Amino acid sequence: MKIIKDLNVKNKTILVRVDYNVPIKDGKIESDLRIRASLPTINYLLEHGAKKIILISHLGRPEGKVNPNYTLSPVADELRKLLPKETVGFYPLPEQGAKIPIPENVRIALLENLRFDPREEDNDSDFIKNIVQSIDADVFVQDGFAVIHRAHASTDAVKEFLPVYAGLLLEKEVNNLDAAINIPKKPILLIIGGAKVEDKQPLIDKFNKIADQIVVGGKIAADGYKSNNPNIYVAEDFDENNKGDKLDIGPVSTAKLSGFITDAKTIIWNGLLGYAEDPAYATASTIAAEMIGEHQDATTIICGGDTTGFVEALMETHPNLKYSLVSTGGGAALEYLLGKKLPGLEAITK
Ligand code: 3PG
Repeated sequence: MKIIKDLNVKNKTILVRVDYNVPIKDGKIESDLRIRASLPTINYLLEHGAKKIILISHLGRPEGKVNPNYTLSPVADELRKLLPKETVGFYPLPEQGAKIPIPENVRIALLENLRFDPREEDNDSDFIKNIVQSIDADVFVQDGFAVIHRAHASTDAVKEFLPVYAGLLLEKEVNNLDAAINIPKKPILLIIGGAKVEDKQPLIDKFNKIADQIVVGGKIAADGYKSNNPNIYVAEDFDENNKGDKLDIGPVSTAKLSGFITDAKTIIWNGLLGYAEDPAYATASTIAAEMIGEHQDATTIICGGDTTGFVEALMETHPNLKYSLVSTGGGAALEYLLGKKLPGLEAITK
């Protein structure tokens, strides 16, 4: 991959694709993981003398129409808090042939939601060309790891108009995921939880051949997941509510999982082990998150939106917990682990 460290950014105008598809409720950002994760690249570009950094992102699925419910404006406000020394501009997407009037003294600007225009998801070259020309961009940095599995104008067609480099977040995500699947330290443990077996089965199938141990918990196990493979341990007991709903894996299963965590040298965790939104059923997920975060001899990868959100929240109260990677990519991380071709990555490859 071509990475920004290979690039002289001095006095250049850099178009940076980030993924600010963050959960927002009543105008309030509920998790700023993806915004904070974009800061190393922004700060690197600032420190190395970039003239302007123009950030582009999508938010949600507004289906190609302008919709105030999906404005990136709260993200611009959050960036202003996270970068207090900078003036952060926020601009609508440019009209055809128009320049975006960014003042001299503004070095960072965020453009409005790319998906307000249907041409973003249509991978339309003219759409992204217009953005490139509206800011006179010199180079494109792809740092939106969470969206690299999409072939959209800002992940794919953009390569027709600018040299493409990977940002620091993308580099970190890819290097960690790559190390876990291609040069893993053994034993390898895959922990699968969550609710949708159809989403997780491909990962289980792929890791059947790679992992030394797979543990299945969460609703998938509670719903009766079965496997004859001796390397797959499916949770065998559950904590239930008074209606008999199995809402967390029980003490026997949690103890087994704890043993596997202790022994493992590479751990990939995707999917919560119980209905962790309710603290009464977050016991197994909390124990797993703590043990993995304290396991400093292992490469530890947390992926999937619910799992990363849970771990991030826990890290706020337990700053001692450290993971090799808390991935910002849900679908993208899964597709990467499955070895699929990702359009946004293909666009960067040397
Ligand atoms: C994500 O949250 O997984 C990415 O931002 C991609 O969003 P999408 O699934 O709407 O394309």
